[in-house]
Amino acid sequence: MKAVAKAHTNIALIKYWGKRDEQLFLPMNNNLSITLDKFYTTTAVQFHEHLQEDHFILNGEYVDGDETAKITRFLDKIRSRAGKSLFAEVKSENQVPTAAGFASSASGFAALAAAATKAIGLDVDDRTLSQIARQGSGSACRSIYGGYVEWQKGEQSDGSDSYAKPILGEKDWDVSILSVMLVSKKKKVLSREGMKRTVETSPFYSGWLETVETDFLDAKEAISKRDFEALGSILEANALKMHATTLGANPPFMYWQSATIEVMELVQELRLAGIQAYFTIDAGPNVKVVCQPKDEQAVYEALKELSVVQDVLVCHPGPGISYLPSTAL
Ligand code: DP6
Repeated sequence: MKAVAKAHTNIALIKYWGKRDEQLFLPMNNNLSITLDKFYTTTAVQFHEHLQEDHFILNGEYVDGDETAKITRFLDKIRSRAGKSLFAEVKSENQVPTAAGFASSASGFAALAAAATKAIGLDVDDRTLSQIARQGSGSACRSIYGGYVEWQKGEQSDGSDSYAKPILGEKDWDVSILSVMLVSKKKKVLSREGMKRTVETSPFYSGWLETVETDFLDAKEAISKRDFEALGSILEANALKMHATTLGANPPFMYWQSATIEVMELVQELRLAGIQAYFTIDAGPNVKVVCQPKDEQAVYEALKELSVVQDVLVCHPGPGISYLPSTAL
């Protein structure tokens, strides 16, 4: 009853921002991401007769408190689906630099969903797995698949039609995603809290909802045509709109720092110089720059010259979930 799974993290091109149901992790809007090759989580789950509670070991160290409670709440959903009550030992290794501002929760819950369902003996397809992963962290549902992935928000109140779907495989269109790590302070408002506060209090949230579906459809069309310029303009505008909603929240907040704005300005200057590069930002100060592989080196070098940039990690579209031998971890 042991299984090991590996899941890669993803970066949203059209953001998931706001929940219509917090318990079931149902999003307000359709959204879209690229799964990345460089960053992933490997997780082993083993259910034991003799355990009195779940144990969680992250990067070789036992974790207690809130983090383990979150894992237990998530495993409870899998236990109840399987009709079993055994506790588990969960071992995770993160290849996601926390300083890069990637949500390790996306790869983390995707890997946990895959390993735990397999270890407990449930036979689930990828769609169901995506629905299970969604209930650990929304963006995790997209990490079940590789390449370009959409998460359809669905209409049903039980979440039965809210899951991720692959749009284009990771080998079908190569783009470069440069993850820019800034010299920055720790993030203060987590994405979960930030999106809740925005939905509840920001007068700009209605503007987000009015336009995000058009962004989503235009992005899908740009992907199907491999139109990089069109996709780039939409993803940058969509990120700016998401961040604009936070300024209207009560109390207001912003994820950008001065270093964030320096990178945004550099990207816009690169475009004036004829290089198609576009930025996106999640719930933190770090920036991801998307460009075509032919421009990757020039963009990398320009970013490295900024004194606020600590490091730049270059990614490409990566694979979906995979299972490893039980001896792997
Ligand atoms: C800004 O998936 O981390 O990165 O569902 O509450 O766990 P929870 O939130 P999470 O939010 C991600 C928000 C985002 C945009 C995105 O990835 O689509």
